[in-house]
Amino acid sequence: MAKIIAFTNQKGGVGKTTVCASVCGVLNSLGKTVLAVDLDPQGNLGFSLGADNLDDRYTIYNVMKGETELYNVIQHTETCDVVPSNITLSAAEIELTSLGREHILKDALDTVYADYDYILIDTPPSLSILTINAYAAADWLIIPLLPEILSLQGLSQLKETIFAVKKYYNQSLEIRGIVLSKYNARLILTKEVEELANIVAEQLDTDVFDIKITQSVTVAEAPAHGKTIVDYAPRSKSAVEFKNLTYEIIGLERPRETVKKLGRGRPRKYTP
Ligand SMILES: Nc1ncnc2c1ncn2[C@@H]1O[C@H](COP(=O)(O)OP(=O)(O)OP(=O)(O)O)[C@@H](O)[C@H]1O
Ligand SMILES: [Mg+2]
Repeated sequence: MAKIIAFTNQKGGVGKTTVCASVCGVLNSLGKTVLAVDLDPQGNLGFSLGADNLDDRYTIYNVMKGETELYNVIQHTETCDVVPSNITLSAAEIELTSLGREHILKDALDTVYADYDYILIDTPPSLSILTINAYAAADWLIIPLLPEILSLQGLSQLKETIFAVKKYYNQSLEIRGIVLSKYNARLILTKEVEELANIVAEQLDTDVFDIKITQSVTVAEAPAHGKTIVDYAPRSKSAVEFKNLTYEIIGLERPRETVKKLGRGRPRKYTP
């Protein structure tokens, strides 16, 4: 039975898609079966995972409209199975008016739930009916956050939405944690925001993950190759960070070698 994890923050560009795609890559490398659901009309998750978003193919939009079944739109990529999205999904907000419209995604996922270990959902930068569908279907939410002061604004709105969904549609919804992304430990501001993030986490009844995702060009390059960071640059510091973040998310202990790689960057001793 799949664990369903949604990546959310109504702020744009905070790393939702990047973290979601990278965690898919790590879970795949651990031998887990993964379904990635792109619930953002921008279609970035499908693109990042090498899915085909051509306009003449059915997408999550057609599933949500009741025009086809979820299994009909699943694509198989090198990383995992993907339910793609495209701009047509932006009409969903106006078109989904039926009673129980908050549960459409959950009902669709129920049909494939038994086939996967994890279902990961990428959400749009809004608190729309699409986001609410993701919250209603998820077991866990993960909130990527930029270590910038402005990124803390609007978190109370996010909290209200999450708590409302928890109350009315999905009582078992849990905020698994906040992940600081595009992190730069050398900035004083980063440290200050990190402290504030801890306070916010407490209000949301969650924690900030120990692993932060450092800002890195390699991370930004990976989607252009339709690969996740663990396949694009498996030995990079970023790949190690995403591996360790995934371990933290799913509650696995980090293997020794990845702990070592996270060290302070001292040169390795040469042993003949
Ligand atoms: N750790 C990182 N280092 C460098 N660049 C990053 C990192 N994480 C994400 N990016 C880049 O930042 C941009 C925004 O990231 P991403 O698309 O993951 O955010 P998002 O929250 O999904 O955005 P949106 O709200 O538009 O969906 C992308 O160009 C991505 O490649
Ligand atoms: Mg995105």
